[in-house]
Amino acid sequence: MQNLGVAITGSGSAVPATSLENQRLTELVETSDEWIATRTGIRQRRLALPDESLSSLATAAAHQAIAAAGITAADLDLIVLATSTPDDLFGSACQVQAQLGATQAVAFDLTAACSGFVFGLVTAAQYIKTGVYQNVLLIGADILSRWVDWQDRRTCVLFGDGAGAVVLQAAVSDRLLGFALKSDGRQNHHLNLPYAGSSKELIPGIKVTKGSYQPIEMNGKEVYRFAVQRVPEIIDKALFAANLSVDEIDWLVLHQANQRIIDAVAQRLNIAEHKVISNLAQYGNTSAASIPLALDEAVRQGKIKPNDIIAASGFGAGLTWGAAIFQWGK
Ligand code: ACO
Repeated sequence: MQNLGVAITGSGSAVPATSLENQRLTELVETSDEWIATRTGIRQRRLALPDESLSSLATAAAHQAIAAAGITAADLDLIVLATSTPDDLFGSACQVQAQLGATQAVAFDLTAACSGFVFGLVTAAQYIKTGVYQNVLLIGADILSRWVDWQDRRTCVLFGDGAGAVVLQAAVSDRLLGFALKSDGRQNHHLNLPYAGSSKELIPGIKVTKGSYQPIEMNGKEVYRFAVQRVPEIIDKALFAANLSVDEIDWLVLHQANQRIIDAVAQRLNIAEHKVISNLAQYGNTSAASIPLALDEAVRQGKIKPNDIIAASGFGAGLTWGAAIFQWGK
């Protein structure tokens, strides 16, 4: 019998050592610990120092996930790095491949902002389900501190840096039980990290653009509204695909953007508070890293156990959103 099922067999995570508490943000912008904590649930976030890199954080998380899965880097067939903040615009996955010594693995980046981990999970799974690859490393990592305007209090208080990783392996029984993904580019303007350049004449008659990426721009209210409406819908859709009811979910692991969003989604789905994983208070919104970071912590704390059913959902820029229902472990 061919192993065309997907099992998620190990997780890992890594965050920079430097933390920045809400109170210290008052040195930068007019805000308060009270405003940030009550509006978002965030108390502190980790920040990558100048000598840290996206690929080093991603590699550290990957080492843990590979060890937890009981394989070696040489066993990997594919590395998918979900990130919006690579060290290099051409991608950072190959640097991670080199740092891991995963000489047999094909490696590429996948960009879907805060939905990156869920989109990456579904993408990675397709290679296993078609029998092409057996061992896939999926990493979600972002260093958004490099891309926020530290003078903009509407955004700079929200984000933090980190990385999380999982190993997906071919298995007889499929543990990726259902998924659903959506995109709506018509709403792209609500959340951007835009390129802006000015036109320069290269040679007479031909102009090119020279510029750079601008800090994150976000319409917080619109993104909030979108998340609270679309995330319960997409989880319902993924549950339908999995032929499961909401009561069968053991853990809800949402993209950690705002505690009020997490609470509202759980409430709409009628999921009890004790099933909801949240580590937003310590890390803020770490974009593509937030789901695997929360997942890995919960696994290491002994909360998530083998065979538990997890509903994970990411949402963010694009706009993109998605959900995956999977059973933990081999
Ligand atoms: N400190 C103090 N006051 C602030 C701050 C701050 N850091 N930021 C904004 N304010 C002020 C505003 O200026 C406004 O003042 P005003 O009423 O005098 O104009 C007031 O607080 C209320 O601002 P709102 O924007 O209405 O606050 P809201 O309750 O909507 O909370 C927030 C803002 C936290 C951003 C919320 O809208 C949110 O979480 N949105 C979703 C963000 C999200 O989920 N992003 C995920 C995707 S990220 C990605 O994909 C990369």
